Amino acid sequence: MNLTYYGQSCFLIEADGKKFLFDPFIKPNPLAKDIDTSKIEADYILISHGHGDHVADLVELAKQTNAEVFAMVEVAKWIKEQGVEKVTDINFGTQELSFGKLRTVWAVHSSSNPDGSYGGNPAGFVLNLMGKQIYFAGDTALTVEMKLLAELHNLDYAILPIGGHYTMGVDDAVIAAKYIDCEKIVGVHYNTFPPISIDTEDAVAKFKRENKTLLLPQIGETIEL
Ligand code: NI
Ligand code: MN
Repeated sequence: MNLTYYGQSCFLIEADGKKFLFDPFIKPNPLAKDIDTSKIEADYILISHGHGDHVADLVELAKQTNAEVFAMVEVAKWIKEQGVEKVTDINFGTQELSFGKLRTVWAVHSSSNPDGSYGGNPAGFVLNLMGKQIYFAGDTALTVEMKLLAELHNLDYAILPIGGHYTMGVDDAVIAAKYIDCEKIVGVHYNTFPPISIDTEDAVAKFKRENKTLLLPQIGETIEL
């Protein structure tokens, strides 16, 4: 199983020959200018919430890949209105989906669609892929809700926002890693815009101090999970 990072909160996980794309925002991101989106393939696309920095390339990539798209009910409605046909709406809780089981969890943030319509609640996800449990937090501040994940799951990897300002920053993400009892963290949602710029070396050191590993793949880099 591997993960390819495309900048901001966009990444692709390949597991058992299936490709899961998350929160596609590539073309408007100057840091991701070398990524050729026409080469991206996906079987499934998961959307955490409706903000532009999570859905900017969704409609184009959904049509290009013919992937099945999963999003909270209100975001799913907007996606269908854009002419995307394979859309499955979800809400908080557990779902039995075409690829297996998903847990959709609370994220402390907001959500609206690109046209300004109501986006419902933002979400995070826990997936079980190839025997590994992976948490993608979406955009969220630190919340005690995360402690529930330590009780319900044995997380192998967590993909957490670390840029601050709109989401958790590094210090809160370290606490989140403790709450969810996960050793290996992939940091996302940083350095794309000035308010979310961070010192990456300092971030790695802060996680290390708590015996956690912060993985920061370069944009376009693929890492093994
Ligand atoms: Ni957001
Ligand atoms: Mn965001």
